[in-house]
Amino acid sequence: MIQKKAMNIIKVIICTVFLCGLIFPIFSAKAGAEEQDQTWEKIKKRGELRVGLSADYAPLEFETTKNGKCEFAGIDIELAKKIAKDNHLKLKIENMSFDSLLGALKTGKIDMIISGMTPTPERKKEVDFSDSYLKSGQSMVVKKTDLDKYKSLRDFDNKRIGAQKQTTQEQLAKTEINNADVHAMTRLPETILSLKSGKVDGIIIEKPVAEAYLQQNPELGFANVKFHEPEKDTSIALPKNSPVFLAQLNKSIKDMKDQGLMEQYKEKAAQSMEEDGNFFTKYSSFFITGIKNTILISIVGVVFGALFGALFALMKLSSIKPLKWLASVYIEFIRGTPLLVQVFLVFFGTTAVLGWDISALICGMIAMVINCAAYIAEIIRAGINAVDKGQTEAARSLGLSYGQTMKNIILPQAVKNILPALGNEFVTVIKESSIVSVIGVSEIMFNAQVVQGASFDPFTPLLVAAILYFILTFTLSRVMNILEGRMKVSD
Ligand code: ARG
Repeated sequence: MIQKKAMNIIKVIICTVFLCGLIFPIFSAKAGAEEQDQTWEKIKKRGELRVGLSADYAPLEFETTKNGKCEFAGIDIELAKKIAKDNHLKLKIENMSFDSLLGALKTGKIDMIISGMTPTPERKKEVDFSDSYLKSGQSMVVKKTDLDKYKSLRDFDNKRIGAQKQTTQEQLAKTEINNADVHAMTRLPETILSLKSGKVDGIIIEKPVAEAYLQQNPELGFANVKFHEPEKDTSIALPKNSPVFLAQLNKSIKDMKDQGLMEQYKEKAAQSMEEDGNFFTKYSSFFITGIKNTILISIVGVVFGALFGALFALMKLSSIKPLKWLASVYIEFIRGTPLLVQVFLVFFGTTAVLGWDISALICGMIAMVINCAAYIAEIIRAGINAVDKGQTEAARSLGLSYGQTMKNIILPQAVKNILPALGNEFVTVIKESSIVSVIGVSEIMFNAQVVQGASFDPFTPLLVAAILYFILTFTLSRVMNILEGRMKVSD
């Protein structure tokens, strides 16, 4: 009997294995055909091409205002438009810092990078590159007053050299200059600013880009030096193993070369760079969008942060151990890690781990809420704890339940402790929200950086940003003071 049962089981197993052996190859063959170019399939299905770039790189990519509206312009933008058009796709441009581009491509936030990117051996390990569409040389920019100090590359030995972070220029500074003190900065305008303010002695920039900046900064000039490295290629980066996508890109590039479109692109870029108008008529729209988004992010952060914060505070005060621990772990972890890291975790985690396709703005808001919830939880908990124990004892001995005591006696008193602290938190959040600029949310700080790139003026936009933040926080704290005063009166 048992033997028969065992035999049956063995038969079933053999059959299953056999069937699987039959079915699997069919499935995988089918999957193989589809998998040929998943990236391209996805793009086609979406009908939208998401291009990542760092718009601080005129004449390749920068932002301008046309009729009061912000717009991307430059050679790379024209090429992106052509590729989208050739393939009947809508174009979506994701502007972020240059050093986040590769990460964004690898996690699927964007489909390709057109950002004046040079195909280097290290990058080729991570992503694929199209054919080259542009060649450009390197230059060393210094203050005009220093021009006669620097006759050759050797004169820069042991000097402070600025370059944009994670670019080939940063690499050049390290390899071609002996013992250079390399200052790598996230956005290109920062390098200009540090040169102008004397924080570095020279900066390495690609020639055409440097020319654009020099036009607007007459106190800077080209040092007469030669780099060993010859001209470098510029290509489009795309995910590995995307043969169809790659072929489409190369087709558009070939077409561009055959038709001699590059000259047109260059001309168009030069025109957009020359749009006239003063600083404020040209760039106020950037700052207005910035203010709107900063306020939006801060309000969402504080309101939802307060809701979740209240929840965590109650969990932490509760007598149920697991809830207490959970809340403590959350609060400690969030308060013990930098907001910057949290922002990146949410930004890349939502796509890479959860597979969600959500905008940078939403990611920024989620990160702010997660962060605020922890701080506000502590504010609320402290506010409740600050109410004298005697109050609870008195209420309970009068026969009120725990819930009634909380609702009618403790919380109304706690609110008076909590509200002012919550106001302070709001002020902090307005300032801290500037951190979400790293993932490309167009709040005040991000747009100030955009204007730095568009105006080639690295300083004024920062000053305007500072003033705007100050106006926001100062007004808010005045309002909070008035409210607090009113509450005192009600005492
Ligand atoms: N060609 C250089 C590189 O690949 C710099 C590119 C910087 N691009 C930019 N949009 N900021 O590293």
